[in-house]
Amino acid sequence: MTAKRVSLTVNGRGENIAADGLTTLQQVLREALDYNSVKDGCTQGSCGACSVLVDGELRIACLLPAGGLQGAEVTTLEGLNARNSTSVIQQSFVEHSAAQCGFCTSGMIVSAQALLDENPAPSRDEIMEAISGNMCRCTGYLPIVEAVASAARKLAKGDGA
Ligand code: FES
Ligand code: FES
Repeated sequence: MTAKRVSLTVNGRGENIAADGLTTLQQVLREALDYNSVKDGCTQGSCGACSVLVDGELRIACLLPAGGLQGAEVTTLEGLNARNSTSVIQQSFVEHSAAQCGFCTSGMIVSAQALLDENPAPSRDEIMEAISGNMCRCTGYLPIVEAVASAARKLAKGDGA
């Protein structure tokens, strides 16, 4: 299959990548660009471990054809790390033991950041809904919900962002 060149921005940096019709954004981010926060959990859209933002929207990178992303702005956890709000979320995950093996954590934090960008004071139900596409085999989810709720409270008090 013939690859075409695609120009996009990843974490604020311009990239020009080769993509054929089967190349996914997950492959580009992990294999070509070394963004290892984008996990490979299922490669079929079921686990959320590859969650990223594309033009500010939460997307599943393993289902997204890279060839259609000309001009897109992609943000991974590495790109979010420059933001105080993401540091506050990460610190809350530590404080609430919301990361155990850590495999789901980068995708969870991207989903949490996407939620708080839209809804700075989410209810627990809204947090559950926001992370419903992210599977965690370790925590039982409640510590993650607590961590996101705690981060939202801290950010509302001006402890970040
Ligand atoms: S690796 Fe993409 S959803 Fe599981
Ligand atoms: S902390 Fe292990 S899968 Fe979530």
